Amino acid sequence: MDGSWLKTFILYCHSIVYIVQLFYNRKKTMSRIIAIANQKGGVGKTTTAVNLATGLAIAEKKTLLVDLDPQANATSGLGIRIENNQKSIYELLIDSISPEDIFLPTEVPFLDIIPSSITLVGAEIELVNIENRELALRDSAREFFRKYDYVILDNPPSLGLLTINSLTTADSVIVPIQCEYYALEGLSQLLNTVRLVQQHLNPDLKIEGAVMTMYDSRLNLARQVEDNIRTYFEGKVFNTIINRNVRLCEAPSYGKPIFLYDITSRGAENYLALAQELLVHDSTA
Ligand SMILES: Nc1ncnc2c1ncn2[C@@H]1O[C@H](COP(=O)(O)OP(=O)(O)OP(=O)(O)O)[C@@H](O)[C@H]1O
Ligand SMILES: [Mg+2]
Repeated sequence: MDGSWLKTFILYCHSIVYIVQLFYNRKKTMSRIIAIANQKGGVGKTTTAVNLATGLAIAEKKTLLVDLDPQANATSGLGIRIENNQKSIYELLIDSISPEDIFLPTEVPFLDIIPSSITLVGAEIELVNIENRELALRDSAREFFRKYDYVILDNPPSLGLLTINSLTTADSVIVPIQCEYYALEGLSQLLNTVRLVQQHLNPDLKIEGAVMTMYDSRLNLARQVEDNIRTYFEGKVFNTIINRNVRLCEAPSYGKPIFLYDITSRGAENYLALAQELLVHDSTA
């Protein structure tokens, strides 16, 4: 066989391998900012934000959880207590304090948090007087967020300025939906808000998908609600379903994500599956 032909062939193979490696590394380092949003209260936003973020960190993805809710449930759910001089998301939004001076490590490797505190209650009102008030989070933190593989934004139960800031900053939104009779109530308002943000503030915002939470397979109603949700979201529903699981309720009172509280629980299994589904989704997107 002609030697030069062989050399060309080997060079060709090397080039292919190099391009595949480049592509793979690009995927690996791609940064994703995901808002967890639903203006309905108590549907599992914070439980999803805390445990999805922890699941991603367990997969060794550098992850940041950002608590944008004055109730600060994600903050306390990870066992973080705001001391007197600790700054929070409030200072980031209102005083433009750098996120570098606010973020904290957590007891989970690969997981950091930007905490919230009750002072955030005032932010919604104070933001009204700030120029570009819908862009406060994006302007102060998006560059910092890009240092992470995943940034998970936990939102309050409203479609006010905090949630708008979150949607303006995010690449995509995950909508947790509690599998109950009124599950679909208010969703049109939420999707309308997403559309408005896409039109005016963040054209790249995508709907990552809906996640069914607190599912109780013993109830016929749960299956009906599941069908309705799948029809409503036209396939944009995660295959993973989060079952009702008492360990998920208990974990926050110990300041622990489900994986540190009870790794053998159904809740841990479900949230790990959700994190895996998201990772697979992103690697094939
Ligand atoms: N899969 C589940 N099984 C059992 N309990 C759950 C589950 N998911 C969440 N919970 C419980 O339901 C309650 C509401 O959940 P969560 O705080 O996550 O909702 P939320 O949407 O963040 O609420 P809010 O709108 O007030 O911020 C909490 O007590 C939580 O522990
Ligand atoms: Mg919450």
